[in-house]
Amino acid sequence: MFSEKVHVMNHPLVAHKLTILRDKNTSVKDFRELVSEIGMLITYEATRDLPLTTKVVETPLCKAELPTLAGKKFAVVPILRAGLGLVDGVLRMVPSARVGHIGMFRDEETLEPHVYFCKMPKDVADRDIIIVDPMLATGGSADAAITEMKKRGCHNIKLMVLVAAPEGIEHLQKVHPDVDIYVGAVDDHLNEHGYIVPGLGDAGDRIFGTK
Ligand code: PRP
Ligand code: URA
Repeated sequence: MFSEKVHVMNHPLVAHKLTILRDKNTSVKDFRELVSEIGMLITYEATRDLPLTTKVVETPLCKAELPTLAGKKFAVVPILRAGLGLVDGVLRMVPSARVGHIGMFRDEETLEPHVYFCKMPKDVADRDIIIVDPMLATGGSADAAITEMKKRGCHNIKLMVLVAAPEGIEHLQKVHPDVDIYVGAVDDHLNEHGYIVPGLGDAGDRIFGTK
């Protein structure tokens, strides 16, 4: 149903942690920790194609030519606010990544995204980009973030989300078919307020305790 650019995590740890995340009784502290942990697990998949080179290392037994990352330049771009919750998990896997921020909120009436902030590393056009946001609902915010990055010359862009609605994935496949999407789980549908069902509620409010 989705193209090969959509990578849905099929892993018991991700499934288990997402179930705790969705529980409305999960505390802010646990919610934050789980977002970070699931972010780390999805990063593992999203970085599967990082190029390797080799270097010679002396083990206690002998010299050996062994794999090491080729040092491809990389940036993680959280969509503010809720995307901030995923940055730590990505950086624990790729500590040298740069971080660009894109501030965006959805108008609660029209569901249209509005960009209010954008600060990127100077050489962002030379970097592989992973945009992170816990939720892909209508796809409007991710669409606008990807468009912003393309305007800045980026051409290797991935999107990482925890929970997606089929509507959001379909929208992105139409407007940005070149972008790989890494998803923790694809849910059933969007409700009339643009919330993912069953979903987990408002990710930003649950990460920052602002309800
Ligand atoms: C949420 C979420 C996404 C967006 C998804 O952010 O974190 O950015 O909605 O919805 P969409 O796919 O329909 O655009 P929100 O606008 O609630 O802002 P916040 O991160 O500040 O809470
Ligand atoms: N944004 C959220 O935080 N949750 C949803 O279900 C939809 C958009």
